This record gives sequence, C-alpha cells and structure tokens, in this order.
Amino acid sequence: MLHNLSDEEYADIDWDNLKFGLMTTDYMYMMKCTKEENFQQGQLSRYGNIELSPAAGVLNYGQGLFEGTKAYRKEDGRLLLFRPDQNAVRMKIGADRMCMPSPSVDQFVDAVKQTVLANKRWVPPAGKGSLYLRPLLIGSGPSLGLAPAPEYTFLVYASPVGNYFKEGLAPLRLYVDDEFNRASPGGTGGVKTISNYAPVLKALNRAKNRGFSDVLYLDSVNKRYVEEASACNVFIVKGNLISTPATNGTILAGVTRRSIIELACDIGYEVEERGISVEELMDADEVFCTGTAVVVAPVGSITYQDKRVDFRTGSEAVCQKLYSTLVGIQQGVIEDNKGWTVEID
Ligand code: COI
Repeated sequence: MLHNLSDEEYADIDWDNLKFGLMTTDYMYMMKCTKEENFQQGQLSRYGNIELSPAAGVLNYGQGLFEGTKAYRKEDGRLLLFRPDQNAVRMKIGADRMCMPSPSVDQFVDAVKQTVLANKRWVPPAGKGSLYLRPLLIGSGPSLGLAPAPEYTFLVYASPVGNYFKEGLAPLRLYVDDEFNRASPGGTGGVKTISNYAPVLKALNRAKNRGFSDVLYLDSVNKRYVEEASACNVFIVKGNLISTPATNGTILAGVTRRSIIELACDIGYEVEERGISVEELMDADEVFCTGTAVVVAPVGSITYQDKRVDFRTGSEAVCQKLYSTLVGIQQGVIEDNKGWTVEID
C-alpha cells in the first residue's frame, strides 16, 4: 500500500523547519498488564493525558523504560521503520533489569507500526525529517513500599522531528565533565531506564550555558575512560581505526551505534569496542556521536580541563560518509541489503 499523501492530507505544519521537539499527533497505542501476567492485546486511542495513581511505581520509584525509533517516508510514499526489533529486544533486556514484564518483540513492533499508520499524516515528506516513536514501559500500578508495581503500561506515542541538536548538521562542541557521572558499574547505565536521564540535566544545562552542545561523561571509577554523551554514543577515528567504548554495563547499546560499527567495517575500517581514555580521545583525528535521535553527528571540538582540541569535520570526514550511508538506508534511498528496514503496510 502506498502512503504518499496529497498536500491537504498532510498535517498542517511547516515541514521545512522541523526541530526535535514534541508536536503532539492524533493517536497513541496503549496496553496494560498486571505483574502476574504477560501483555495480551493493546489498542490505539486518541493522543492525550493518561491517568495514574499518585502511588504509581514509575512516579515514586522511577520504574520505567523508554525507547526511541523512527519512521521515514520514501519518495514513492512507502513508510519505513529502521530495525524496530532491536529496540524491542533492548526493552526486554531493560525490563528484566527493572523487574517489569515486557511486550514480546512482535507485540512491540506491531504497536509501533499501528502508531505510525494511525498518524501517517504526521510522517514528514521524504527527506524532510522523520516520525519519532517513543515507546514507554512503566510501572503504572500503586505501591507504597519499595517493590515492583502491581500493574504495567506499555504505550507508544509519536512526534514528527528534525535534527536533534540546534546546530543542525554543523559540528558539535562537546565538554568533558569530570565532576558528574552518568552511570556506575552494577547500575543501570546499560539499559534505557528513564532514571538515567534526569540526573545528567545538571551537567548538560551547565555545559549549554557555557555554549557547548553536549557533555561527554567519564567512567565513574577511574575518571579516565570516555563513556557516552547525554543522549548518544561516541566514536573516535584515528587513521584506519574506528573505536567506541565497549558496552560493559555502563554504556547504552545503541541501535545506531551497532549499525555504524557494521557500516564502518563494510567500508574497510577496523573497528574496536574497548576502553578509550580521555587522552586518546583528545588525540583522535575525528570524533562523532550516534543515536536514534542524533543519527550521526560530527564533533568539531572537545574541551577537557580548559584545553580545547579541534577535530576533522566536513566532506572528507569518515563520519560524513557513514552518515550518508546510514540515512540513505533509513530513508530507502540506498538499497538495504542488510534487512534493516521494515516496510509498513
Ligand atoms: C534517542 O536517541 O532516541 C534517545 O532516546 C535519546 C533521547 C534522550 C532523545
């Protein structure tokens, strides 16, 4: 089925100036279960506020996970998702860590597809952005004592989005924060729990107020190894070697991160997942960030302890090549011979 819309059928918004911000759409998907059972069947409803007990597990104890995935419109009108099963698997792993039941991979992907189709007038025209899908899994039942909630809600909402950073596609200015930690060994840094995000706001706001785009965090034990940025993974390039911090429990296993590792190997780079010291970071030829929201973003400079280093960016950068290949596949412009894209019909 084709989904090319006439001008009148598109939502009435300025498609040429999309930013990464919430623009509410028509429908959301919702499914509930108790802690004794698995999720069964969910349904679409009009987008709107949800009702929660003041004692809900998510409100009191942060029992919640989120995901992010995107739908794109091809030139011919077909709608594509990018590796939604990977987000579903990650949610299952996170749910186990957070003592929550989770939707099956099929239920997750089906919910995402239904949400896209119900909101198809909000999927941007080809090349103008994407429809960002936000699956949430929360402890919605009440519990006063610290315990897994008695009831869970899985929901998916959507928003059309453009570039994540206000810089657009221009190089980022990162700040290495050696005061605040993002994650610690044995904690939840490796899963997409909601409680990994508010704690970095302090560092992020401080850096933004000083003119930086985002913060890079160091490992909490040695304060020496690079972990990730507030909302994305990080890669360095030195010669023919591309390296990224290994997912050892404190690093989020990004879907874009994994895809970029594969694409970089395909074009002949050696890729290593390992510890990267801040000294090695500052000595790199190139640095870039990856994430669903961020996609692949070049880093123009990094500041660490009052020393600023500039990195290679622009059309000669590897990052630019990886960005074009990834986005080409995601938008259906480059043939997907990896089976990463899922057509919605
Ligand atoms: C994503 O890339 O989808 C994320 O979840 C990051 C978020 C903080 C916007």
